[in-house]
Amino acid sequence: MQSTFTSSSFDESGIQSLGFQRDVYLTAQCTLKLPSRAAYFSRFQSIQQLADLHRWAERQSLSFFVLGGGSNVLPVPYIEGLVVQSGMTAITVLEQDADSVLVVVDAGVVWHDWVLASLEYGHGLENLALIPGSVGAAPVQNIGAYGVEVAELIEFVDVYQLSTGTQRRMTAAECQFGYRDSVFKQALLGDAVICRVAFRLKKQFQPNIEYAPLKAQFTEKLPTPSALIDAVVSIRQSKLPDPAVIANVGSFFKNPVVDQEVYTVILNRFESVPGYPVDEPGKIKMAAGWLIEKAGWKGRVSGHVGMHDQQALVLVAQQGATLDEVLDVSDQIIADVQTMFGVTLEREPQLFGSSS
Ligand code: EPU
Repeated sequence: MQSTFTSSSFDESGIQSLGFQRDVYLTAQCTLKLPSRAAYFSRFQSIQQLADLHRWAERQSLSFFVLGGGSNVLPVPYIEGLVVQSGMTAITVLEQDADSVLVVVDAGVVWHDWVLASLEYGHGLENLALIPGSVGAAPVQNIGAYGVEVAELIEFVDVYQLSTGTQRRMTAAECQFGYRDSVFKQALLGDAVICRVAFRLKKQFQPNIEYAPLKAQFTEKLPTPSALIDAVVSIRQSKLPDPAVIANVGSFFKNPVVDQEVYTVILNRFESVPGYPVDEPGKIKMAAGWLIEKAGWKGRVSGHVGMHDQQALVLVAQQGATLDEVLDVSDQIIADVQTMFGVTLEREPQLFGSSS
């Protein structure tokens, strides 16, 4: 049950204006639907409100956590602190020239809504349609699909830095984007709250259909922007479970980058093994879904948790699943893939709501 804050054990001066709630279940807000409850929760409508909320939490010695769209997190059962989420949803054109337009989007906008809206301004985001989550979460894990990573479109990210209490504009280089990685998962973890993201979109539509299943759909003529979005949506819907129907957080592991020799040993054992070149010489990116399938986990369920029967990289949870079960099953998969292939998988979604 959600209730507005009434406790007298805390400093209540000015808290009404902070607009937060006490004892809030986050289960429905996180797409893996694990049982989770936060001591305090607020959806902020301005950066001033965010700053005030953080100051208040500090005064109460409460931990402070920022939730995005809840589609890439593993929440702990009880979050002893204040969880905040952006409720800011403005979309503003900052500048444009003959070739491109720079659009600044608030963190609270739903990612797929922004992809659809972006067609009014320019192009480049079409391949990233239907990825669950919010605009503010997109840079954190550098979301990517079908040959495009969001980092390619980001010009800057505006953050509120908790440790300094100041706003800061970070260039794409400062964000240190990598494969499913950024400075927001590393040095600035727990410190930078992403408030706005600026996207440089192209006025001219140049479809990226390098991903084989997309190319196969457009052999005769190139797609329009809407047709490309429709194709991406239908590929996702055919392979990936809809989080509104089956609880999941998308890919549960990163695709591992291994030494060429490790890949060759595996290649000698199987007729064909998916592998993709990466920038680093002597390294190959393997498909975690393939490794997990070969390790016998595709469609396999243990307790309330299993791996999807269409895409072995996606962990799915049934009602009643707990965080411990999810961690246990994923540890078993890591161990099985390690034993069978000598490759170490790394979990992609992050633990949420634990200070340790
Ligand atoms: N594969 C299998 N068995 C499976 C799943 C995949 O053999 O159960 C093989 C496929 O046949 C293919 C290869 O693995 O040869 C790659 O599969 P797919 O194209 O489906 O992509 P992926 O590498 O499994 C990545 C992203 C997805 C993204 C797709 C498409 C990561 C961790 N995942 O998956 O991102 O949609 O590429 O670009 O990089 C996400 O991050 O949540 C996500 C869904």
